[in-house]
Parts: sequence; C-alpha cells; structure tokens
Amino acid sequence: MTHPSRQGITVRAAAKINLHLGVGAPREDGFHPLDTVYQAVSLYDDLTAYAADDWSLSTTVADHLGAVELPGPGDNVVDQVAALLCATGCADGCTPRAHVEVSKTIPVAGGMAGGSADAAAALVALDRLWDLQTPDEQLLALAAQLGSDIPFSLVGGTARGLGRGEVVTPIDDTGNWSWVVVPDAGGLSTPAVYRHYDVLFPDASPEPASAQPLLTALTSGDPFALAAALHNDLEAAAVDLRPDLGELLARGEMEGALRGLVSGSGPTCVFLCDSAEAARDVASSLSSVRPVVLTAHGPVSGAHVVDTSPFP
Ligand code: C5P
Repeated sequence: MTHPSRQGITVRAAAKINLHLGVGAPREDGFHPLDTVYQAVSLYDDLTAYAADDWSLSTTVADHLGAVELPGPGDNVVDQVAALLCATGCADGCTPRAHVEVSKTIPVAGGMAGGSADAAAALVALDRLWDLQTPDEQLLALAAQLGSDIPFSLVGGTARGLGRGEVVTPIDDTGNWSWVVVPDAGGLSTPAVYRHYDVLFPDASPEPASAQPLLTALTSGDPFALAAALHNDLEAAAVDLRPDLGELLARGEMEGALRGLVSGSGPTCVFLCDSAEAARDVASSLSSVRPVVLTAHGPVSGAHVVDTSPFP
C-alpha cells in the first residue's frame, strides 16, 4: 500500500437467513435450481475502501468468530470484485488501485452469506471510490456473475430468490422478526453440503419446493405461523454431516424458541422467537451449551454506505 488518501468509504452489508430453501435436482451446469426466501438480519461486515496507488486487502475478524481460515489472495471474493469492476467499468481495463479493510462479524463459512456480504460491500464501495457510477441493474448482474447469494446481499430486506438464487425480487415484509444465531467454528463447505444433498436425495424433483406457503405466513406477521412455515431442504444434509446440529436445534426449541433451523448450508443454526425478549432468554439458555450465541433481528437493509472514514 502506498500513499493512501485520508478519506475512505465504508459500506455495511448484512448476513442472511433462508426462511425457505427449496432445492431441485442439479441442472446441467451443476448448480441446483432454488426457490428461496432470504431475510437480511442484523449481523454485519463493514468494508472500507481507501484510494491508494496499488491494491491491498486486510481483514480483521471479531473475537467471537474464533480462529478462522480466510481465503488467500486471488481466491478472496473482494479481489474478484475489484478485478471484475475494472474489467467492465474502465474502457482500458484499469488496474485495481485501493486499500480495502474488511471487518467481519458474520460467521465465516457458516451458511449466512458472509463472503457474499463482503462482495456486495466491495461492489458498492469500489464503484463509489472509482466513480464508475455503475447502474444498479449492472451491479446486480456483476453480483450474479460472482456468486448466487451476492445479488441478495446488495438488495437486503426480505426477498425471493429464483434461478440458482441470483434472481431476486424484494418482498414486502412489515414484520420485525427476532432470531437467536448460533455460529459454529467448524464451517461446512457449501458445495460439500449440496453434494451430500444429491447423495441423500438422488430422486429429487427438478422443481424446487415452492416458497408460497412461507410467503403466506410472512404476510400474516404472526411468528407462530412463520415458525411453522420455515423450511430448508439442505438441513437434512447438513445434520447428516454434523449430527450435533440436530441436537442443538432440539435444545433451542426446548428452551423456548418457536423453531430452530439450519441457516442455508450450515453449520450456523438460527432460532425464531416470538419477541426480542424471548430471543434474549433463549440465547442465555443456549450459552450453557455453545460458546457463542448471538441475537439478531430482521429484515434489515442491503449493502449501503455508512461512512466516509479518515485513514487510521
Ligand atoms: O454461487 P456460489 O459461488 O455461492 O456457489 C457455491 C457452490 O455452491 C457452487 O459451486 C455449487 O457447488 C453450490 N451451489 C449449488 N446450487 C446453487 C448455489 C450454489 O449447487 N443454487
């Protein structure tokens, strides 16, 4: 890093929970067709981009996430965002020049789209830093190119995802839903969980299970109705790979959660509660069996600029 400017642009992006995750049989390209409902919840990664003469990236991880392995240079999705924005946004295919700092509180490899949040934050921050003024539609298309969950991380709120999850339509959600989130240090790889799903369900229908019942429950605003409609086709595969997750889900429900659910491909487990107070009580009970137990609420906003920060 050389000669960074004093002002940076900070973008905040949220974790996601899949309220419904219907998974169909794999397509020819290997991806699985999805009918999913995402909800952005109040766990965040912050990314700050500073002008610089060359490219550098540093990441700090919140203590509660423990010792996690982060992707190396080139594999990191923020590097990929920078390269793609340069390739498409500059007539001469410019070289990425910025110093980027990522501060993570979203569980890593946890099924909460932490990497996708960082990618979405990088798209917004670098687009602004380099004054590319990429239209929203094009940012969404670039996001879809980089990963199935990244368009949702841009949009936030509550949204339905079709295709491989990248075709997102915002859903009107006036609820304020209370969650307990239990991260797990032993991350599960998303491709491995999808592969295990294929092994467990070789006769899966090409059509994913419809999200319609979940959408109806969401409109009722009733947490009991929402709890009954929560659905994750990947849960059986995640629990088969990690049977202790099944025990944790049962324990959370015994402690008063309306429903426990594996988040996406896991291993994070989430628990819907009927109020913020109930979520605090369930979190306090689960603290006796798990080292890290968080509370969160949703829906919250997609990736957005929160600050222009002086260089530290
Ligand atoms: O799109 P993304 O990079 O997030 O996907 C990571 C991996 O998860 C894919 O390579 C694929 O193995 C699996 N996946 C899938 N079907 C989807 C989304 C992801 O099989 N709809």
